[in-house]
Amino acid sequence: MDLMEYQAKELFAKHGVHVTLGIVATTPAEARAAAEELGVVVVKAQVKAGGRGKAGGVKLAKTPDEAEQHAEAILGMQIKGLTVNRVLIAPAASIEEEYYFSFLLDRSNRQYLCIASVEGGVEIEEVAKTNPDAVKQIAIDPGAGVDEAKAREIATEAKFPEPVFEQAVTMIQALYKVYVEEDATLVEVNPLARLSGDVLEALDGKVSLDDNASEFRHPDHEAFVIRDEEDPLEAKAKDKGLNYVKLDGQVGIIGNGAGLVMSTLDVVAYAGEAHGGVKPANFLDIGGGANAQVMADGLDVILHDPQVKSVFVNVFGGITACDEVANGIKGALEILGDEATKPLVVRLDGNNVAEGRRILDELNHPLVTQVDTMDGAADKAAELANLNQQSA
Ligand SMILES: Nc1ncnc2c1ncn2[C@@H]1O[C@H](COP(=O)(O)OP(=O)(O)O)[C@@H](O)[C@H]1O
Ligand SMILES: [Mg+2]
Repeated sequence: MDLMEYQAKELFAKHGVHVTLGIVATTPAEARAAAEELGVVVVKAQVKAGGRGKAGGVKLAKTPDEAEQHAEAILGMQIKGLTVNRVLIAPAASIEEEYYFSFLLDRSNRQYLCIASVEGGVEIEEVAKTNPDAVKQIAIDPGAGVDEAKAREIATEAKFPEPVFEQAVTMIQALYKVYVEEDATLVEVNPLARLSGDVLEALDGKVSLDDNASEFRHPDHEAFVIRDEEDPLEAKAKDKGLNYVKLDGQVGIIGNGAGLVMSTLDVVAYAGEAHGGVKPANFLDIGGGANAQVMADGLDVILHDPQVKSVFVNVFGGITACDEVANGIKGALEILGDEATKPLVVRLDGNNVAEGRRILDELNHPLVTQVDTMDGAADKAAELANLNQQSA
């Protein structure tokens, strides 16, 4: 899960990173009230994307009037395809210099990586290109972590200037605590600013939390989920306890077992090449117990994806035999009734396959086509998706 800037800053504050929290507003009136309290402020779009400043989503407001106007303009704005639903009203800082700092997971080297640069003011990617020596990469042994000595080594390597050097050493340790104790995979501060009076402060924050850790190690992270910012289909799937990931194609996929679903995605993508380039619309693993309710829940999510033009149900009967799955599909179509509107290509194989296929044959549902092989079924699903998208 990626956090919004204001949420990242809450975690920063919790671990002793110097930040100013500000006030979150969802209406221009709230922005005005916040500015009345805080004085000169910046109005900052809260979306899970960088480059808000460049996109016009960060504006200085000297008066409450201005804060209200900026909030009016920024709320509802699109930044990198994301709608701005809230703004952070943060006290305006007087910036002397801007630095870059991050901790991240370096999977290929099985370690953590710290990236730091005191060349600010431009994008870090730009600095990396034009002046690569100014961007320091320091490997961190996850076993050893970042103690004061390591923080000093990092601050020295990154060349933090003398007046803020000790603050940098303290902040690096605090940021590392955020990274490790919150099970983050990314903690980024850009800019890490030197303010007038030589005060070091995190003016922006980006944190990605490891969802696999959050679920059981950090029940408090649940509070960071913002319902109205979630993809509605993913939110629905999560509520129903389904393993669902939205993709951008046209063929809805339901399978049992992550491995089978992964290979189904591949087969559909390949089949799609012969059918107008259609692609898988999602990953959905309904797991071992494919009863009617789980099948109905899965279909319910997929059929409500407006991009989906056909659905491929690919199930290999194991512990749950094919006849139960077939009854699951039958039951799901009954539960969904008129809401089931898109063609379903079903491939059943494995335990009790003959009975499973017989049940679906007998059902003789106008939306359901049975194909016995995975490749054949993928081809049929891709063909139907392509036909449907042409007629739409
Ligand atoms: N509280 C603040 N006071 C003054 N200037 C700010 C403040 N917060 C951000 N800025 C300025 O706006 C720029 C962009 O803001 P930032 O939070 O980094 O958003 P993004 O990275 O999405 O563009 C910063 O580099 C900084 O120069
Ligand atoms: Mg930034």
